[in-house]
Amino acid sequence: MKFFIFTYGCQMNEYDSEIMSGLLNEMNLIQADDPKEADIIIFNTCCVREHAEEKVFGRLGQLKKLKVKNPNLIIAIGGCMTQQKGMADEIIRRFPYIDIVFGTYNTFQLPEMINKVMKDRQSIVNIWEKEGEIIEKLPIKRTDKIKAWIPIIHGCNNFCSYCIVPYVRGRERSRSMKEIIQEAKKLESEGYREITILGQNVNSYGKDLNEKVEFADLLYALNDIRGIKRIRFITSHPKDFSDRLITAISECDNVCEHIHLPLQSGSNKILKLMNRHYTKEHYEELVYKIRNKIPNSSITTDIIIGFPGETDEDFFDTLDLINRLEFDSAFTFMYSKRKGTPAALMPGHIDTEVKKNRLFQLMAVQEEITHNKNRELLGKTLEVLVEGVDTKTRNRLIGRTRTNKITFIDGDQETVGKIVKVKINKTKTWTLEGEIVD
Ligand code: 5AD
Ligand code: SF4
Repeated sequence: MKFFIFTYGCQMNEYDSEIMSGLLNEMNLIQADDPKEADIIIFNTCCVREHAEEKVFGRLGQLKKLKVKNPNLIIAIGGCMTQQKGMADEIIRRFPYIDIVFGTYNTFQLPEMINKVMKDRQSIVNIWEKEGEIIEKLPIKRTDKIKAWIPIIHGCNNFCSYCIVPYVRGRERSRSMKEIIQEAKKLESEGYREITILGQNVNSYGKDLNEKVEFADLLYALNDIRGIKRIRFITSHPKDFSDRLITAISECDNVCEHIHLPLQSGSNKILKLMNRHYTKEHYEELVYKIRNKIPNSSITTDIIIGFPGETDEDFFDTLDLINRLEFDSAFTFMYSKRKGTPAALMPGHIDTEVKKNRLFQLMAVQEEITHNKNRELLGKTLEVLVEGVDTKTRNRLIGRTRTNKITFIDGDQETVGKIVKVKINKTKTWTLEGEIVD
């Protein structure tokens, strides 16, 4: 029998889908290349913005045809979307042909749920109210052979007022340092070159553990695993990005000098309403500190425009900061109202047209900055980890610089998995191009 997984959302979800694949492989199920060939279809969903949910609803609607054709098809849906209050009922009502609804805390139960549905042919809704202990040593089938994800902390305690994540992923739970190091060492022995350590806020790592460790300690320990040549980390919160952490990044040669540091807004009024616990002045100072201590670092960010109460003036504050800080790139989002979050109930929700307008302005400004930043790299020689062959042209390689810039290189397939020196001879807004020089 075959299965297919649709994955939406962030890297944590990609990792969770790799765990699901591992669990299903252990049941002797194999991964299908196409959902049409699958006997079991699983949705691993996201609810951070309404758009993510709409995509899932659209796809679920399309599956009705497949289910009519093959009544034995099992459809399961889990992840952040189903974990929201009342959502399981809504899903079952709108899509009664779904067999399994599970949440974010009980993914490990997927095999038993599938077995039960196969036996009884009755649908199951199984969502845990609260997070449980972290379950270690689950099987995993990773999609990539060169780079891998390692979660280090689950959940979030920050409760930014717009964000649904704390409600669907629970409170912060750090994995033990021992488990993380073991996982990284295993990846090293399997020939992996790069790891990205994951958490909603990696800076909180260790705060909930009995052992006295913090995120910087973890970086030093991972840096000692010499076969892993690149260590990346997402996401950092500006409120608790310590000086010790900046030092650790600069001292650990395998830790890449790329910092994703969500700003969200450049207006102090909006930052306060967002419950972000920092001011634009603090953020700005942090960026200068990072650039000072970590030369050639790239800093990227997330911005939300159209948060309730955002005036033209607040928006101009954001534009102004974006212009001054010159991020390497920015993910820009229109505020999306999430039921159950404090911001949903705030006054002053912004018209979609106004939001769109602000988003386009912001994107245009940032695009130019990103392009200019890339132009500065022209003629420079950078280290690139070759990740694969460009699927479009087939005769080009594709990789990333330590600063996380996508780079196309002329070269042959044998270079995949290697770290090479590349002289940049062309720059575009989103990508670099160059040739191998050693
Ligand atoms: N609306 C728009 N963007 C959001 N994000 C989180 N919640 C919302 C929301 N309700 C954005 C933030 C975060 C990124 C992962 O998603 O910018 O950093
Ligand atoms: Fe959401 Fe804020 Fe937690 Fe990030 S830090 S997951 S934006 S609540």
